[in-house]
Parts: sequence; structure tokens; C-alpha cells
Amino acid sequence: PESITVAELANRMAEKTSDLVKALFKMGSPSASTDLLDQDTAELLVTEFGHEIIRVSEGDVDIRHDEDIDDAEHLKPRAPVVTIMGHVDHGKTSLLDALRGANVVAGEAGGITQHIGAYQVKTPDGSQVTFLDTPGHEAFTEMRQRGANVTDIVILVVAADDGLKPQSIEAIAHAKAAGVPIIVAINKVDKEGANPQRVRERLLEHELVVEEMGGDVQNVEVSALKKTGLDKLLDAIAVQAEIMELKANPDRAAEGTVIEAKLDKGRGPVATILVRRGTLKVGDIFVCGAESGRVRALIDDQGKQIKSAGPSMPVEVLGLGGVPMAGDTLTVVENEARAREVATYRQEQATRKRTVQAPVSLEGMFEALA
Ligand code: GTP
Ligand code: MG
Repeated sequence: PESITVAELANRMAEKTSDLVKALFKMGSPSASTDLLDQDTAELLVTEFGHEIIRVSEGDVDIRHDEDIDDAEHLKPRAPVVTIMGHVDHGKTSLLDALRGANVVAGEAGGITQHIGAYQVKTPDGSQVTFLDTPGHEAFTEMRQRGANVTDIVILVVAADDGLKPQSIEAIAHAKAAGVPIIVAINKVDKEGANPQRVRERLLEHELVVEEMGGDVQNVEVSALKKTGLDKLLDAIAVQAEIMELKANPDRAAEGTVIEAKLDKGRGPVATILVRRGTLKVGDIFVCGAESGRVRALIDDQGKQIKSAGPSMPVEVLGLGGVPMAGDTLTVVENEARAREVATYRQEQATRKRTVQAPVSLEGMFEALA
């Protein structure tokens, strides 16, 4: 290729465009996702993100063939990853239930979401959207931040009868910090006292200017209860996703991010993985954070066993040697020797980090000795 846009380079590194935009900003060359990069900047970015050094020929940004970076011709469109955020009880889980025709809310203890659920929804036009549901409770701020890291788009759910609340504003801040576009779903419009216009006005105070007011933030009035406005919301997501040109190489060793992980009594360590690129298959050998393993089974969001999972798919993975941490990267490797090698290295790194961070004050040392 003659030159490369920020978004294209991001796709080829399987990094988020917004992360590249942020890095460019820090490097003192603010750019938009559609801007063309010169060779030097592109090269700098690639190394900045820890990928193999690129070979640059005259007038050309050619990225070296290796496992780390994907050729442009291998990239295929992938589903957007959408995180649903908002104040507690504004209807995040209900909205997701309505979108996927399920009922998760009914099964939750006290109606409060305790973890991040990950689901895929088929839109009327046949494309897929991956949704992450985040808890609305204040204690889970960290989880929300984590959700914002893998997400392409944030749906901010605001109850029309309650308006913008502290956690709505917090969600706006997280999305902005992560450079992720926001679509506002004004929910509960069926309720008495619902005032969607007031919500749109209040959004202005947080520099979210909706389209009706001359801005570029999409907002959709919905009722998760009456199931209205849902197709419009999916359309809004499709519009946003199209602008972002989200792509990944499905034909390579898989790489994914741990969304949540736990020790299941019957099944052992289980992790929900969001596949970022490549295709994860049963039998694959992998390293996941400081753990290694071999994929014993893959379970989709419907609870069905599947053989493989491609980019943007959330999937439960069985066959881990231990419980990884949310946010860890899963990387498929060639063989078990390599998996152990990488896992040991990562464990050592983790130990070293802990040692360095240990308290070095006298009091701390005495306490440790006591
Ligand atoms: P947390 O996970 O606790 O943050 O809550 P949430 O945002 O997931 O809200 P949830 O979906 O659990 O809904 C909270 C309450 O609002 C429930 O009683 C829902 O039935 C109700 N609710 C959700 N959407 C609507 C709606 O569109 N209209 C009306 N009238 N009620 C709704
Ligand atoms: Mg919920």
C-alpha cells in the first residue's frame, strides 16, 4: 500500500483505533482515524504498541510478515463490540434482554448485575453485534473501566424518567477517556414522567451534542419493557460501526481478552474470552495471562458447545490450567513447550512486579517480620 490510515494500521495490529489516536495525541501529532500516516509515525506507533519492527521501503509502509501483524488483504469485517453502560436500574440488562429476546434480569439476585455478561445479537440485516453488559453498582467501577477497554462502542442507557445520574456521567467520562464513541439509548420512554428532551439537554453539559441539536451523537428513544425502538438502536450501532471499518484477520492463531474468569466446581477454571483476531478452536494450545492450557471445550452465549470462535465472538473456554485475571490476553501458541515457556515467563514477570511494589518502609518490613 502507498500509505496507511490510522484505522487501517489499528486493524492490522488488532489494536483499537482509539488507542492509536490517543498514542498519536501523546506523541504530539493529533490525528483522526481516517488520517493518513507518514512512514516514521506509523513505524513509531507499531513499536510503541510492542509489535515487530516494520520494514519500510521507499514511499511505502510495508509491515513485516510475522505472527504479530496481519496483512491488509487478510482482514475481514468483524462485528462491533458494544458495551452497555449507565446508572443502576436504568435498564441496561432489560435492554440487552429485549435485544436478544431473552430474560436475564429475572434470574439475577436482586436484579443487580454482578458480572459482565457477553452476548451476540443478530441484527435485522443479518449482521452480528457483540454486547457486554456491565453492572451498574458503584462498587463495580473498575469492571466498567475494563469493559471500556475492549469495546468499540458504548451504549449509554439513561432512564427518561430519572435523567442523567452520577453513574451516567461516570460512564460518559470512561467512554471519553477510552476514546470510544457513545450512542445514547433513552430508555423507559413508556413511563409516566418520561422526559427524553430533558435528557438530550442535560447531555449538552457533558459535551455530548445529539444530532437533533447539530451534533454527531446518535440518540434513540427506547422502551426495553414495551420493546420499542430496538431496531432503531441496532441501526444506530450499524451506522457507527460502518464509520469505524472494524476488521480483523480470522485466519490465524487466535488472540483474545479475558472478560471474566472463575473456578467452576464441576468444570474447573472457566474464562469468558472475547476473541480479538484469529479463530479459537477446540484442541488449541494457549497461554492465558500466567496460565497455560489446551481448549477442551468452547461454549457460546446460548450455552451450546461449538468447535470454533472467530473475531468479536464471546466464548466460554474450558481447559485452563488455572484461573486467569480479567483483562488478561489469551494467545494460541504452537505447542505445549512454548506455552509453558511463555506462562513461566509471565509468572516471573508478575512476581517481579509484586516484589518491586512491596512496601519498603521500615514499618512495612517490621510488620512483615511480625
Ligand atoms: P443494574 O444491573 O442493577 O445496574 O440495573 P440495570 O440497569 O441492568 O436495570 P434492569 O434492566 O435490571 O432494570 C431495572 C428496572 O427497570 C427493572 O424493574 C425493569 O423492569 C425496569 N425497566 C427496565 N426497562 C424499562 C422500560 O423500558 N420501561 C419500564 N417501565 N421499566 C423498565
Ligand atoms: Mg443489570
